[in-house]
Amino acid sequence: MARLDGKVAIITGGARGMGAEDARRLVAEGAKVVIGDVLDVEGAATAAELGDAAIFVHLDVTSEESWAAAVEAAHAAFGPVTVLVNNAGVLSYGPVDTIAKAEFERVAAVNMTGPMLGMKTLLTTSNEASEAMCPPCSSIGPDGASELVSFHPRRAGDDRPEPRQVTRAAKGG
Ligand SMILES: NC(=O)c1ccc[n+]([C@@H]2O[C@H](COP(=O)([O-])OP(=O)(O)OC[C@H]3O[C@@H](n4cnc5c(N)ncnc54)[C@H](O)[C@@H]3O)[C@@H](O)[C@H]2O)c1
Repeated sequence: MARLDGKVAIITGGARGMGAEDARRLVAEGAKVVIGDVLDVEGAATAAELGDAAIFVHLDVTSEESWAAAVEAAHAAFGPVTVLVNNAGVLSYGPVDTIAKAEFERVAAVNMTGPMLGMKTLLTTSNEASEAMCPPCSSIGPDGASELVSFHPRRAGDDRPEPRQVTRAAKGG
């Protein structure tokens, strides 16, 4: 029996890069994977590469409606979602004195609001078995980087709790 047999994972931003590698690794370990991304062509190609163990769904992590549709599609294909990998993320370079408010908000919407909406959707829909969640993937420490102003709130909102703690905290347990 493979280590992740029976697990169903949604990987946001899984069309390419680190998310696609996560998808390959989880499938190799026995999981079913739902790749969610705004890149439809790349996402479909990555899912096709993984065969019956993966599907692609169009998912814009900043949209509650998009999350609801993605979780429904995952449920229909593989059953209840048990793992959420909040991998989707965007970068925007520029110091605080030049960054446009709209650009800051665009980055925050993907990097911070997106993971929150994903966790909320899994905890409030008919997805009865959310047992583990992954906090946002980030690497900028509290000291930050002056050219990555819009990326910092993500790191500030990511104190890397254990996955199960995220679920319990979100449920108020
Ligand atoms: N590459 C690195 O060195 C590095 C280091 C630290 C953290 N990270 C983080 O790891 C994650 C993946 O990095 P990567 O290098 O593979 O980046 P990438 O740009 O190759 O992949 C990010 C994916 O997120 C998707 N995405 C963007 N906006 C989205 C949205 N609104 N809804 C759904 N998907 C959306 C993109 O389409 C893309 O497929 C990111 O969150 C990034 O911030 C990367």
